Amino acid sequence: MTEALCAESPGGEHAPVLRNAAIEALAIRSDGCYVDATFGRGGHAGEILGRLGEEGKLVVFDRDPEAAAAAAVLFDADPRVRFVRARFSRLLQHIQPASADGVLFDLGVSSPQLDEARRGFSFLRDGPLDMRMDPDEGASAADFLARADEREIAGVIARLGEERHAKRIAHAIVAARGSGPIATTGRLAGIVAAAVPGREAGRHPATRTFQALRIHVNDELGEFERALPQAVAALKPRGRLVVISFHSLEDRIVKRFLRSGSRADPAWAGLPEMPAVARPRLRLVGRATFADEAEIARNPRARSAVMRVAERLRE
Ligand SMILES: C[S@@+](CC[C@H](N)C(=O)[O-])C[C@H]1O[C@@H](n2cnc3c(N)ncnc32)[C@H](O)[C@@H]1O
Repeated sequence: MTEALCAESPGGEHAPVLRNAAIEALAIRSDGCYVDATFGRGGHAGEILGRLGEEGKLVVFDRDPEAAAAAAVLFDADPRVRFVRARFSRLLQHIQPASADGVLFDLGVSSPQLDEARRGFSFLRDGPLDMRMDPDEGASAADFLARADEREIAGVIARLGEERHAKRIAHAIVAARGSGPIATTGRLAGIVAAAVPGREAGRHPATRTFQALRIHVNDELGEFERALPQAVAALKPRGRLVVISFHSLEDRIVKRFLRSGSRADPAWAGLPEMPAVARPRLRLVGRATFADEAEIARNPRARSAVMRVAERLRE
């Protein structure tokens, strides 16, 4: 499953995906403390804030400076809100353990990131081949493609894009480097389109390659794997963890994490007394939730969204 966002609905507004389901899953208390780990443009954050009273608190994270600017406009005057411009893998540097009533992750890129050609995520809008959520940190997609060897490029495209033509595409990229650096999204999209045989209906041939490069450049899976245990540690007992993911690679990480957290330590199985540390830390709340047809019709990005929810059981 690849991200529907990569199918790029041109000019789409940033509608918060699974908004009602996510807000319900957080079971918001008006005096609670909530963390939105992926602020974006504040769609979910605004909904959470609307349910908080004067005693409530909302801490929002985003690594993107443009999300920070949007948050300043939206919420700066509100003393209940704190914006942290940081990666969510640093959650516990900013949030006290066992202090939050809910943590929300709405993973991936935001529509404004995708829609702005100059951010370099888009295969439909030509721009510099950047793809960094935080342009002040790390190497851009163009840097990666300029330096990596063919095998490494193919590995990234195969693993993170689940692209079966990864080897052909990597070969074409390395060949194209011979006639100058691949510095724009348009040039890369053209190279990939020419390398991929046949056409998949309704999908640009560069969709999977762009998804792979974006995930690689931002270390999205590593970020998320490091953040999940911190999110649970940040929760109070009975606090809720809500994750909305957009492709199978992310959802696999969530499923594995929730499954192991909701089981007792197998080393104690069958023994008469189980110490607190061996008991499950999480209780799964409901099953996976998907967007309905009406939401998908309004917002094609919701097509690949999966929401999973768990509650923290103990310290
Ligand atoms: C899908 S958007 C969130 C949209 C948001 N829920 C809304 O309603 O507007 C994901 C956001 O998370 C941010 N993000 C992704 N990975 C991140 C990370 N590791 N640390 C901090 N922010 C991250 C992106 O910059 C992007 O703005």
